[in-house]
Amino acid sequence: MTAPRELLLAGVGTMGRPYLQAAARLGVRARALESAATWDNRPADLAERFYRVPGDHEESWAGAVEAAVAERRPDGLIGFAESQVVAAALAQQRHGLRGPSLHAAVVSRNKALQRALFGAHGVPQPGYLHVARLGEARDWMLRHLPVVVKPLNLSGSQGVELIRTPDEAEEAVARRDGEGRLLVETAVEGPEYSWEALVGGGEVLFENVTAKETTPPPYFVELVHRCGHDFAPDDSARVRAMTSDVLRVLGMDTGLVHLEFRMSADGPVLMEVAVRTPGDYLPDAIGLTYGFDLYEAMVLLSVGLPLPDLPRRPVSRAATVFLTAEPGTITRIDGADEVRAHPAVVRVRPRKGVGDTVQPLTSSGRRLGHVLVDAASPTEREDAVKFVRETLRVAVTP
Ligand SMILES: Nc1ncnc2c1ncn2[C@@H]1O[C@H](COP(=O)(O)OP(=O)(O)OP(=O)(O)O)[C@@H](O)[C@H]1O
Ligand SMILES: [Mg+2]
Repeated sequence: MTAPRELLLAGVGTMGRPYLQAAARLGVRARALESAATWDNRPADLAERFYRVPGDHEESWAGAVEAAVAERRPDGLIGFAESQVVAAALAQQRHGLRGPSLHAAVVSRNKALQRALFGAHGVPQPGYLHVARLGEARDWMLRHLPVVVKPLNLSGSQGVELIRTPDEAEEAVARRDGEGRLLVETAVEGPEYSWEALVGGGEVLFENVTAKETTPPPYFVELVHRCGHDFAPDDSARVRAMTSDVLRVLGMDTGLVHLEFRMSADGPVLMEVAVRTPGDYLPDAIGLTYGFDLYEAMVLLSVGLPLPDLPRRPVSRAATVFLTAEPGTITRIDGADEVRAHPAVVRVRPRKGVGDTVQPLTSSGRRLGHVLVDAASPTEREDAVKFVRETLRVAVTP
């Protein structure tokens, strides 16, 4: 009998737990690294050993991952979120483990580096200027309005801002000139999508398109994700051309890819790409949409076990719907039971309750929770999304 395979998971928190649960179902042994911040909540029963990572910066993760791999080389290593991607890629390269490639990991972590390399290869993307301080971009901004200002390596739309007028540009320069390096981009118009793919040895093994609904400008906070989106054949071909160019320029080897783009009048335009598990519970919505477990597939791929045939077409239509409210203090949450009882609602998960503060919705961390919906058809899904929005109401006093 051969020994069971072993997975090392770097970063668990809440959203990484399904990897450990998938490993348990598959009979794959698991060790995991957890940050000090979430150490007390680690799911101790889901891994044979947990390693405590003292800080949340990439260097801290890199040291801890290297130590865990040196203790015993696992068959697979998964870096869960942004702060673990490079740490995992360093160890993957050094110890010959499967992963996105160190090149893909490093490029994915820096939006200015993405623009520079994708620009060199002609991937469709916004015009951009990378500056040491926003004041240096003043003239460029005035010539290219509307523009988007963004930090190089934050997520959740933090610090991402649309600037429409010369006055807004002056105000942004005054407010953000001390922030250091920033990226300024031409604002691309068109609906937004993401593309999630499982890639093995550079080949796309599974792919999904998610249509996004966001708050209006200037902040673009994501409100609804609808998985299993179908483009018309022409657009579909253009999206495929862009995604395969992005994988090639990244030097993507093995793992999950989460790519964001807008569909402009001239075709798809890249927003950014990440080589990690997509956030916002997308793996759950993708799993329901295609009738398989994305976490299990990723674990099998990582530890080098054979994958089953992966689905190509949706068998259902899932969506995640995020809860929001005006700023203030929550006084009541109504309709949760009715929403839970709806046949298309899979779960209702508020993150805030009565007495909690609601802050202005400028980044996704400020949303109040989510509802996962799964319906037989796009029409039924729309009915369910509408029902959730009308029924689940968060009342606040300003
Ligand atoms: N050049 C652009 N043109 C139009 N919209 C843009 C542009 N850049 C960013 N946006 C909008 O702002 C959103 C957030 O930008 P971006 O993805 O770069 O930031 P982020 O912090 O990584 O956000 P997230 O983690 O939510 O993906 C995008 O999803 C998009 O809707
Ligand atoms: Mg993004």
